[in-house]
Amino acid sequence: MARIVTRRGVLLQVVIGAYVVWTGLNPWSNMTHFLVSAVLVVLSTLLVRVAHPDNAQLGQLEGSRFLGALFALATTCAIVTGTMVTGSGPHAGDENAIRLGFEIRDIARVHSASVWVSLGVLLLITRKVRKSPSSVLYREVSLVLGAFVAQGFVGYVQYFSGIPAALVALHIAGSVAVTVTTTNLVASLLDRTASASA
Ligand code: HEM
Repeated sequence: MARIVTRRGVLLQVVIGAYVVWTGLNPWSNMTHFLVSAVLVVLSTLLVRVAHPDNAQLGQLEGSRFLGALFALATTCAIVTGTMVTGSGPHAGDENAIRLGFEIRDIARVHSASVWVSLGVLLLITRKVRKSPSSVLYREVSLVLGAFVAQGFVGYVQYFSGIPAALVALHIAGSVAVTVTTTNLVASLLDRTASASA
């Protein structure tokens, strides 16, 4: 299923990409293009997990399903609000492109607040994982934490230095790292609960 959706999603991106150009880099179509890419990254990560079943080294962590779902939701909000910052900011790709119209400072604050909420949930997960004997889970949590801290650092440097163009690519690469590591962790937490309740 994930394989078929991924293949069709890549073709869909060709169409959305053309639509983005046709609409004169409209920020809503641009956001859709980015977010569909993020979904494809999630699906590809899940496919890699299927190819490496050693990921499914299970333990028992009470409440991990809830925390995993909450973390997925909070991180999705962080990514969606991130695209809204870009849609309101100076890097439209064309000086005539329309903008979302949010005050950049305000929308960047909403974005960073959603990141802090995700980080809070991640710290709760980290506390639980420290009690778990699973080294795979420990590695997964460490990778997400590393990706979050690095991405947050780049984000604040961008924010306080007037959003220089040079850092945009780095922040996008960081979003991919956050998406991949978050997908792995959430998949493990949900699997783990499923097997624990079986
Ligand atoms: C886990 C942490 C974070 C994630 C996953 C994340 C994700 C994103 C995403 C997906 C975008 C849009 C990229 C695009 O549409 O091309 C973005 C833009 C942005 N983010 Fe973040 N972000 C994070 C942390 C932060 C933090 C802490 C700040 C500090 C205020 C920040 C500031 C910005 C800014 C200023 C932009 C606009 C960049 C531009 O227009 O060039 N980010 N972020």
